[in-house]
Amino acid sequence: MLVTGGTGTLGRQVVPLVQAAGWKVRVLSRHAREGGDGVEYVAADLLKGDGIDEALGGVEVVVHLAGGPKGDDIGTRNLVRAAERAGVRHLVHISVTAVDQLSLTYFKSKLGAEEAVLASSVPSTVLRAAQFHDFAVKTVGAMAKLPVMPVPSGLRLQPVDARDVAERLVELALGEPAGLVPDLVGPKVYTMGELSRDYLRATGKHRLSLPIHIPGKTGKVYRAGGNLTLSGATVGTRTWEDYLAEHISQR
Ligand SMILES: NC(=O)c1ccc[n+]([C@@H]2O[C@H](COP(=O)([O-])OP(=O)(O)OC[C@H]3O[C@@H](n4cnc5c(N)ncnc54)[C@H](OP(=O)(O)O)[C@@H]3O)[C@@H](O)[C@H]2O)c1
Repeated sequence: MLVTGGTGTLGRQVVPLVQAAGWKVRVLSRHAREGGDGVEYVAADLLKGDGIDEALGGVEVVVHLAGGPKGDDIGTRNLVRAAERAGVRHLVHISVTAVDQLSLTYFKSKLGAEEAVLASSVPSTVLRAAQFHDFAVKTVGAMAKLPVMPVPSGLRLQPVDARDVAERLVELALGEPAGLVPDLVGPKVYTMGELSRDYLRATGKHRLSLPIHIPGKTGKVYRAGGNLTLSGATVGTRTWEDYLAEHISQR
C-alpha cells in the first residue's frame, strides 16, 4: 500500500495501522529518508510530478494524505493520472469538511482534488474530516502568543482526533471503494472562545481575548454553521479535552 504524506501528522498515525493490518507500506513524500521501521520511503513531488510513476510500481491501494496550504488540486491530479497508468485498484483520499461551502484558496484546491479523484477511472473512496486537534492547538497556540488573544466570533469547529481519522481511513482502505462517504467529525462542537479558554487553562496561560469579526462570504458561512456537519456524520471517539490532557503539560 502506498501512503502519500505518510510522514505528516495524519500519515504518522496511518502507517503503523496499515502495517498492523499486515500490509507492506511505501511512503511518498518530498524528502527521502532511511527505512528501518519496515517502511519503504520514496521521494516524489506531487506538485512537480517527479517520481510518482516510480513510487506507484506494484502498488494496489493508495491512501492519499499528502498536501499543503496550496496546490492540492494540482498534486492530486498528477497522482490520479499516474494511478490510472499504474492500474491502482483503490485510491482513498482525505478531504476536509465543508470543502464545497467555503471559497478560501485551501478549500478550493481541496475541492479540485476531490473532483480529480472522483472523476478518475481508478475506483476511489473520499473521506472529508473536520479540523484535527493538532490543527486546533496550533491555531489557538499561535493566537495565544500575542499579548491580547484574537478570537474569531461566530466560528465553531468540531475538532477530531487524527488517530480517529487514521483508524477510519485504514478501515476504508481495506474495504471496497465507496465514493464519497459520510464526513468524520469530533464528538463535540466548540466555539473558538471555548477552544481558546480550554487551551489557556491547559497551558496555565492568562490572556485577555479580543473578539474578531470574520468578514465577507466566508464569515457568513461560518456564522451560519455552514462548516459544521451536524447530522449524518461518523463521529470520532476522542475529545478535545482528552487531547489537551494527553498533549499539553502546564508550563
Ligand atoms: N490538519 C487538519 O486539520 C486537516 C483536516 C482535514 C483534512 N486534512 C487533510 O489531511 C491531509 C494531511 O494533513 P496533515 O495535517 O497530516 O498534513 P502535514 O502534517 O502537513 O503533512 C503533509 C504531508 O504531505 C507531504 N507533502 C507535502 N507536500 C508534498 C508534495 N508536493 N509532494 C509530496 N508530498 C508532499 C509532507 O511531507 P514532505 O514535507 O516531506 O513532502 C507530509 O508528509 C492533508 O491533505 C490535509 O488537507 C487536514
